[in-house]
Amino acid sequence: MKKSTNRSGRREFLRSTGALAGAAAVGTLAPFGIARAQSAKLKVGLMLPYTGTYAPLGNAITNGFKLAVEERGGKLGGREIEYFVVDDESNPAKAPENTNKLVQRDKVDVLIGTVHSGVAIGMAKIVRETGTLWIDPNAGADEVTGVLCAPNIFRTSFSNWQSTHALGKVLKKEGHKTAVFITHKYAAGEQMKEGFREGFEKEGGKLVKELYLPFPQVEFQALLTEIASIKPDAVVSFFAGGAAAKFLKDYAAAGLKGKIPLYGSGFLTDGVLDAVGSDAEGVETTLHYADGLNTPKDKAFRLAYAKAFKLQPDVYAVQGYDAGQLLAAGLEAVKGDMSRKAEMIKAMETAKIDSPRGQWTLSKAHNPVQDMYLRKVVGKENKVQYVAWKALADPARGCKA
Ligand code: PHB
Repeated sequence: MKKSTNRSGRREFLRSTGALAGAAAVGTLAPFGIARAQSAKLKVGLMLPYTGTYAPLGNAITNGFKLAVEERGGKLGGREIEYFVVDDESNPAKAPENTNKLVQRDKVDVLIGTVHSGVAIGMAKIVRETGTLWIDPNAGADEVTGVLCAPNIFRTSFSNWQSTHALGKVLKKEGHKTAVFITHKYAAGEQMKEGFREGFEKEGGKLVKELYLPFPQVEFQALLTEIASIKPDAVVSFFAGGAAAKFLKDYAAAGLKGKIPLYGSGFLTDGVLDAVGSDAEGVETTLHYADGLNTPKDKAFRLAYAKAFKLQPDVYAVQGYDAGQLLAAGLEAVKGDMSRKAEMIKAMETAKIDSPRGQWTLSKAHNPVQDMYLRKVVGKENKVQYVAWKALADPARGCKA
């Protein structure tokens, strides 16, 4: 069997994508990975939060990814998978060390991760230097498919901008002229606020106040009191995981539910409805996934996921599943031979992903171009209302690849 070095594959990849100058600028002269026979197991590094407020998200992504692999007989492009797992604790300060555990120590062929935008920025720096193939299955940091974009960087989730941009139209349609945005103070919250502000202002709305608390604090009381005194037409919010569940309960307990309508990016209500109960009823959010899509693909996915994990899937499970599908598309095109980088990247770039969320493709910057649904909490479901924005593409500001 032909053993080709990944170093030559990397050069060929850079030449064929015209990325040599850009790569040199960021010092990308290291090999893509270590040389490995095509028959060897494919080393997949999972860098995700398995502890802390985002732990359920990391677990759902892991489950979704593994389901995509299992549906292909446990192999991608003919190669069995060996998993290497690191809990990143959603801690940006530890991101370089944790990324290097997988990239330098374990020498993974592909890196899958993560959830937290701040951690993702740390990962991006290392994969740009080493040329490691990276698929981001959640973290929305605009930079990942913006100023830090690169041929070896892919995302199967969303950009932060994308997740709230359609809300401007929705609020306008529902008669709201002023809004307050409330979120954790870090890249994801601030960028989702910006995506919303842009969309809302285009519709003539005004963002009258931004309220922040440090990640991952959940003492919302003082900010809720402030909202009550501002009396905006609407409140728009980003929280996720355990923090989202507590925010929804506290919003109702503060007497704001039913008085000032609550909106958000869909992370606010995804994966938390069992824990929150009726306090979330009626909350409207935009997201690239929803309950009640009722497509054959979504039905099959939900059934398979529930059977495998005894759990209902959520948006995070879908993003992990699609990371598996995207990687499969690349590896199948080169029959598992990752030294054929240019071909593999091309196959990933042009893949049409048959996702439970609906079919999507990648933008030039490697971010999904996808429909954004308006969803409304009805009982335990984020019920789809309508497509709030068809095929929304992130503007990819600063991406030069
Ligand atoms: C992020 O930090 O990018 C992030 C975290 C959790 C979400 C969405 C985005 O649900």
